[in-house]
Amino acid sequence: MPQSELAVIILAAGKGTRMKSKLHKVLHPLGGRPMLHHLMATLDELSPARKVIVVGAGKEQVEKSVGDQAEIIVQEPQLGTGHAVQVTRDTLQGFNGTVLILYGDVPLLSVATLKELLNVRNGANNPAVVVLGFEPEESKAYGRLVIDDGGGIEAIVEYKDATAEQRAIRLCNSGIMALDGAVMFDLLDHLDDNNAAGEFYLTDIVSIAKARGLDCAVSVASEGEVIGINSRGELAEAEAIFQWGKRVQFMAAGVTLLDPSSVYFSYDTVIGADVTIEPNVFFGPGVRVAENVTIKAFCHFEGATIHGGATVGPYARLRPAAEVGEGAKIGNFVEVKKSIIEAGAKISHLSYIGDAYVGEGANIGAGTITCNYDGYNKALTDIGKGAFIGSNTSLVAPVRIGDGAIVGAGTVVTGDVSSDALAVARPKQKEIAGWAAAFRQKQEN
Ligand code: UD1
Ligand code: CA
Repeated sequence: MPQSELAVIILAAGKGTRMKSKLHKVLHPLGGRPMLHHLMATLDELSPARKVIVVGAGKEQVEKSVGDQAEIIVQEPQLGTGHAVQVTRDTLQGFNGTVLILYGDVPLLSVATLKELLNVRNGANNPAVVVLGFEPEESKAYGRLVIDDGGGIEAIVEYKDATAEQRAIRLCNSGIMALDGAVMFDLLDHLDDNNAAGEFYLTDIVSIAKARGLDCAVSVASEGEVIGINSRGELAEAEAIFQWGKRVQFMAAGVTLLDPSSVYFSYDTVIGADVTIEPNVFFGPGVRVAENVTIKAFCHFEGATIHGGATVGPYARLRPAAEVGEGAKIGNFVEVKKSIIEAGAKISHLSYIGDAYVGEGANIGAGTITCNYDGYNKALTDIGKGAFIGSNTSLVAPVRIGDGAIVGAGTVVTGDVSSDALAVARPKQKEIAGWAAAFRQKQEN
């Protein structure tokens, strides 16, 4: 059977009070990306014809975040999930394909689960409603799915309205549904708010469809994919699920994690095979690591690229646009920002390298600092191939060190250094024979 055209409605008008945040709930990040954008990325794989987001307060924030990726509709006041779908009527009127209902605060759905749901919707009997069910470990206050003899759904009963017998049902409503757009708004016309919450429940669409003789079906997901996020605690639980997914994925792809639970990835982290990651490493967004890299303990990365065979850490910080070349070494307490470190270069200890180019095989001594900022402007430091920068050197940018040059320890470099030259700028050492002994004698008598 051909797949019908798809429209998606993301419900996000809930107040999100329990987050206690000025930021809209669906914009809180998970794995370094707003939860709403996790959903949008999943949806991209289904190529929907229409994407509609229903919001209440905080419309501007959501609008700014999604741009023209979706149509935004305001639901004011918020009279329930059924009402939230009703307010899309003017926008989706005449759409006869499948309408997928998602929740903005249920971001971990997989493409496979949604495809399965849509398959059921496109399957036998043309079900008007397909509900995504799940069996939670604790069924809490979720709506319960009442299954009929034929394996279809008879009704969804909200916990508040359920009898003790219905509350004992383990199959629950995730809230996600696939509806037949051709009848959806007609069915929604029959909703009322005669229930414990005094709301227009979307879930009542099942009994309304059944009363009309239409089929209602169920598709089942695992609990981890459909957990909703209402509080910071639940956000942390979702983060934990997301992180374990990433850890398992990377280990399966040939990455060694010595202590998986202490390594945090972003949604877009890329890591090659035969990379070893020691404990307590954090990958912010935009990090790419090639093959055979060793990342020692306690590193923090954002927007950085690490090429093959490099060694980074322990305690290294790579900030946006840091690029560590093949076989290069970044050691402890080294911070690199917007700099290219060419192959085989070494920055082994205690340095800040920003807005710099470090040539192939160069050696940057302990305590070297690129002075790249004067309070107004950033300036560049260019270090040639094979150059040797002595310990505790300040490179006052803009400055260029030629290929193969040597800079003496403790130098404050304020002018360019020619290739293969030695540059030293520090007071000459002087010695006064016996001075220390005389000093001590004077103090002690
Ligand atoms: C809903 C379901 C329940 C299900 C549970 C799963 C109904 C009546 N109940 O309950 O069966 O087990 O989700 O988590 O549908 N929203 C709006 N406008 C509104 C109300 C809600 O956009 O007027 C949005 C919220 O932002 C949220 C989603 O709809 O994304 C669910 O709303 P929520 O109030 O959390 O529903 P529950 O009562 O938990
Ligand atoms: Ca909820």
